[in-house]
Amino acid sequence: MFVARRLPEAGLAPLREAGLHVDVHDSEEPITRQELLSRAAGAHALITLMSERVDDALLDAAGPQLKVVANFAVGYDNIDVPACRRRGVVATNTPGVLDDATADMAFALLLAVARRLPEGEALVRSGAWTGWRPEQLLGAHVTGATIGIVGLGRIGRAVARRARGFDMRLLYHNRRPDPAAERELNARYETMDELLSQSDFVSLHVPLTAETRHLIGQRELALMKPTAVLVNTARGPVVDEAALVSALQGGSIAGAGLDVYEDEPAVDPGLLGLQNVVLAPHLGSATRETRTAMARLCSEAVLAVLAGREPANAISG
Ligand code: GLV
Repeated sequence: MFVARRLPEAGLAPLREAGLHVDVHDSEEPITRQELLSRAAGAHALITLMSERVDDALLDAAGPQLKVVANFAVGYDNIDVPACRRRGVVATNTPGVLDDATADMAFALLLAVARRLPEGEALVRSGAWTGWRPEQLLGAHVTGATIGIVGLGRIGRAVARRARGFDMRLLYHNRRPDPAAERELNARYETMDELLSQSDFVSLHVPLTAETRHLIGQRELALMKPTAVLVNTARGPVVDEAALVSALQGGSIAGAGLDVYEDEPAVDPGLLGLQNVVLAPHLGSATRETRTAMARLCSEAVLAVLAGREPANAISG
């Protein structure tokens, strides 16, 4: 089997214990497409990352013996699921184990933007800080504010639980209302437009699909309050990044906390010049525990499929 990147070793232990030959692209850097196509050849199982396009060409290059592609991510917009299905290849992802880490990152960004943490940090590091001032770097009040959660799935609900700890008023938008989650979290369903216009913080937790690409564009940003903050820990293309830069520059929203970008690792140069944004390098699931658990889920999925069992996290969509 072939693993497309160096992953936490403890997560791959089940594969080695099962006696599988595990060929790893043993690098922090992504594998080139060419090398991926050649090293996948003959594999019965692949572990891929969001940087690898799993499409007809890769599946053909791997060959008809391929049984499973385990994606080391919850998002699987890099996988052509119908192409896998046509060949009887099972595709899996890593839901559940990264909800808390990703929700923590969303909240870290929300708080950092609201309380202007990078500006404060830069001031201290510059040596120019001359002491406590009654009106220095005043930020937005988080406790009791209204948060709009777009996508109340596993990660969205984890964000909602954190928001409750901050006594926030909770609005959410989903394809369908979720009465059970509403009761559990005291969240109110709103149309997308209402959510945007009422929220002080808007946090995105939808997968990237044809329907969610540019879900937040110029029109949507214009509906947000001029004091509002947008947080994106989902996928970059859910937001029209050029429209976001214009909205931030023009003051139609107050700030943004971003962990993901439209064309990673490229970042719109307009964002880099703005004070009112906090930019993280796609760290949502980046804790040792979470990344190990993700690798373990991939290993378990591979072992299940190779043993003829149903894996826990087969992608159906
Ligand atoms: C990371 O972005 C993931 O989808 O797991």
